[in-house]
Amino acid sequence: MSARDRLRLAVQKSGRLAEPSRELLARCGLSFRESRDRLFCYGETLPIDLLLVRDDDIPGLLQQGVCDLGIVGRNVLAEALAASESAGENLREWLPLGFGACRLALAVPQEWGFLELRELAGKRIATSYPMLLRRWLEQRGLRAEIVVLSGSVEIAPRLGTADLICDLVSTGATLAANQLREVATVLESEAVLAGPVRPFGDERAALAELLLRRLRGVLEGRASRLVMMRAPVSALAEIERRLPRVSARNVLPLADAHGAVAIQALCGAEPSWAQLEELKRLGVENLLVLPVEKALL
Ligand code: PRP
Ligand code: ZN
Repeated sequence: MSARDRLRLAVQKSGRLAEPSRELLARCGLSFRESRDRLFCYGETLPIDLLLVRDDDIPGLLQQGVCDLGIVGRNVLAEALAASESAGENLREWLPLGFGACRLALAVPQEWGFLELRELAGKRIATSYPMLLRRWLEQRGLRAEIVVLSGSVEIAPRLGTADLICDLVSTGATLAANQLREVATVLESEAVLAGPVRPFGDERAALAELLLRRLRGVLEGRASRLVMMRAPVSALAEIERRLPRVSARNVLPLADAHGAVAIQALCGAEPSWAQLEELKRLGVENLLVLPVEKALL
């Protein structure tokens, strides 16, 4: 493949990850001009273009070099990695993205008084994730028949084509609607940035690095809180010990107070009510906890 100076990023066209993927990229300062076919979007603010595709196609597109990076469920990526050796050598998870949490789980008909994994022996399990399921069964020394279905897995037990299923569960609504009960987790999943194992040998390397840095900044910011307060200077050390994961702080003098300072602390997590109440007991006043839009420390 010839040297390229634009990075091509594949995202799900429609479905669970589509909207939050686009929203995350917008937060990273990327904007796009949509094409008429709604398949390709030209990057306006940075030379990073979007390809809108089916999520299941993303690992294949990455391997073929049609796109450089992709936002895809770990479940889809892991199945592709388990399915072919070359995928495992070429692709990897670059960064978990903190949305689209779900799990690949085994579920049985509600009336089945399932107690132990041993009961899976000889049963037929419908799934769209045969490689992940096979590996999971093998690791537990279980022998079961895998029935591969590309969709509507949840109705297989009612149709009699399988005894139970192994499918993605997010809210659990699909299982409930089909009178199925979750009994084991095969894989914890969320949206991830997927990309090549080997670094790009051209301009794309710097673009990928930039995107990664901004993604990390946004993800960090999502969990972070700016905590502001007025505090007795003597309690500074005690206060800092009670704040979660402080990564930056300013201590400012106050014009109107002796022995009191203003503190701004950037915390890596939201302080709990209990932590705030402890701060109050240390003599802190005017406590404010604010979300963080962007951070560049
Ligand atoms: C998954 C899965 C279920 C549904 C479960 O599909 O196949 O149908 O989500 O979600 P729930 O627990 O909230 O009801 P997904 O959205 O990944 O679509 P796809 O399999 O067609 O890609
Ligand atoms: Zn899909």
